[in-house]
Amino acid sequence: MACENDPPTPFASSPFGMGPMRLRRSPALRRLVRQTNLLPRHLVQPLFVVEDATLAGPIDGLRDQRRLTVDQAVEAGVRAQRLGLGGVLLFGVPANKTPHPETSGDFLLKAIARLRAEVPELLLITDVCLCPYTEHGHCCVYGGDGSPDLEATRRAYGRLAVEQAGAGAQMVAPSGMIDGTVGAVRGALDAAGMVHMPIMAYSVKHASGLYGPFRGAANSTPGFGDRRWHQMDPANAREALAEIELDLAQGADIVMVKPAVHALDVIASARRDFPRATIAAYHVSGEFSMLSAAAERRWVDWPTALHETLYAIRRAGADIVITYGAIDWASRPEPEQNCSGTT
Ligand code: PBG
Ligand code: ZN
Repeated sequence: MACENDPPTPFASSPFGMGPMRLRRSPALRRLVRQTNLLPRHLVQPLFVVEDATLAGPIDGLRDQRRLTVDQAVEAGVRAQRLGLGGVLLFGVPANKTPHPETSGDFLLKAIARLRAEVPELLLITDVCLCPYTEHGHCCVYGGDGSPDLEATRRAYGRLAVEQAGAGAQMVAPSGMIDGTVGAVRGALDAAGMVHMPIMAYSVKHASGLYGPFRGAANSTPGFGDRRWHQMDPANAREALAEIELDLAQGADIVMVKPAVHALDVIASARRDFPRATIAAYHVSGEFSMLSAAAERRWVDWPTALHETLYAIRRAGADIVITYGAIDWASRPEPEQNCSGTT
């Protein structure tokens, strides 16, 4: 029985049985009470740049995504800037592989320099990893004894980061999730006098079955073995928080969690446990492709499902969402604004 001293319930019932639905009756009301924001500035669009124009073209599994020549990457950058996106994340696809990558290649440095010069207001983040460059497709270099050479790997990450920053990148993103690489990149940047260059660390990266379309695009599928020796077991969530702590201690400015939708709990715990950290989440290629494949079959409605997915990632606590749908989402009105509404 309700008593005079009971706190008021948030949605007092009425004799007519109406409750929370009162605030959902029109687009204007729904807009007023919306609890999460998603704006173009929250989104980062990945771009793949090829060394050889014959490698350019559509990417299998990734709706509307292409491997780009340097010219096309600049065009995509212009679009991203016009839409007010938070930034682009650049991956290089070299024409040739090597056991010991020393550089991200002239083509990528040229793409960085041109984006910087021709789209100066667009934030340019560059990927720092070895997997698109190594013959074996792993994110590390191997020593003579056939095991990963961690010191050489860390030096290589540092060299690539300094080179990319020198070409005009405004943030570097070491993506290998190999112990000590964030600190190594910070150290190399500092030693080069690039003390202001921010690092976005792939701090929590589950060893996932959802990276396939990306590996097709970056031509970075491991030739042997897998990445479970350095990427996290998807069963683990507490360990994810330890990884974030380690990367922050090594100088990460932004910490990332992926795959985003499959780790919404990790994003939410990270938000709670690291209230001052800037958290990014990567809505990865497999997550994007599942959605777009279902949409192609008309099983799900593309704009609504993409919208809902991106809001879910923001709602969990991500400040930044990296998604292949960034340009797409920002190019169309939100589904809400398409509805005629009731008023
Ligand atoms: C590896 C890397 C991966 C992704 C970006 N960089 C994963 C992997 O190959 O293990 C995945 C991104 C995606 O699937 O969209 N350095
Ligand atoms: Zn890699």
